[in-house]
Amino acid sequence: MRNKLTVIGAGHVGETVAFNCARLELGDVVLLDVLEGVPQGKALDSWESTPIFGFDSNILGTNDYADTADSQIIVITAGLPRKPGMSRDDLFFKNLEIVESCVTQATEVSPEAILIVVTNPLDVMCEVARRASGFPRNRVIGMAGILDSARMRAFIAMELGVSVENTHAFVLGGHGDSMVPLPRFSTVAGIPITKLLPEDKINAIVERTRKGGGEIVALLKTGSAYYAPALAVAEMVEAILKDKHKILPCAAYLEGEYGLTETFAGVPIQLGREGMEKVVEIALTDEEREALHQSAGAVKEWVDKIPAATV
Ligand code: LAC
Repeated sequence: MRNKLTVIGAGHVGETVAFNCARLELGDVVLLDVLEGVPQGKALDSWESTPIFGFDSNILGTNDYADTADSQIIVITAGLPRKPGMSRDDLFFKNLEIVESCVTQATEVSPEAILIVVTNPLDVMCEVARRASGFPRNRVIGMAGILDSARMRAFIAMELGVSVENTHAFVLGGHGDSMVPLPRFSTVAGIPITKLLPEDKINAIVERTRKGGGEIVALLKTGSAYYAPALAVAEMVEAILKDKHKILPCAAYLEGEYGLTETFAGVPIQLGREGMEKVVEIALTDEEREALHQSAGAVKEWVDKIPAATV
């Protein structure tokens, strides 16, 4: 029997997640949106490409949560996107309502699913999803670190003129301007970039990574990035459904790890069929630890603003 996964929100990120997960034959995909016709049209268009690419996953577009029942994975992309000049946090109150409603309806019919949250502001929406679903922490995970590290890897490859496949990058913290890229754990063919690039170049890469989402928003003017975010989700879905025990940077609910409690933060976690199998802890320098705590503190300030009546 095939796996089933649901993508909620048929905007650019949602449709690209759905298409790529189907293309990788990770399972049958249900694409849901409140807009009538939009998920149906995008799903049909995607499905009509299957004979050309030669993949057998079904893609169903719907407005009805009943069609999503018994999904193994639910990806939440629904929400308003960022507009130029808007910070991820500006989206907070609107997207809080949207995410709460989607998670409540989706988890009612898929009570055993693993939730992957993509809606911004990411780390806070993870907490909204955790509360709305009542799921344990291994089944509520946020997508951000893979995207942020992919951007850093792309910038490293560009700077050094090497294959992106040779690169590895390490980004901790919240998915916001206070994220914490760690150059000493970022490598090219196993060699730390601190041994390959001068400090000013590394600082420029770190800064561009931090502002990577905003850079795309400023260029697009209407909407935000979707290719890289969607493929980051596909990597998580694959790690889970194929039970790969793969270590990836994701937003996870911390219970003491890295000295943080009851908060989501971007950290390396191991992903497999049960969702988050464990948080991978590494020793940080005082400076790195301080930056991580500051980033988590910024997330916590927003979490405290979630109205008690909402979730
Ligand atoms: C980005 C938005 C999606 O980083 O948060 O591109």
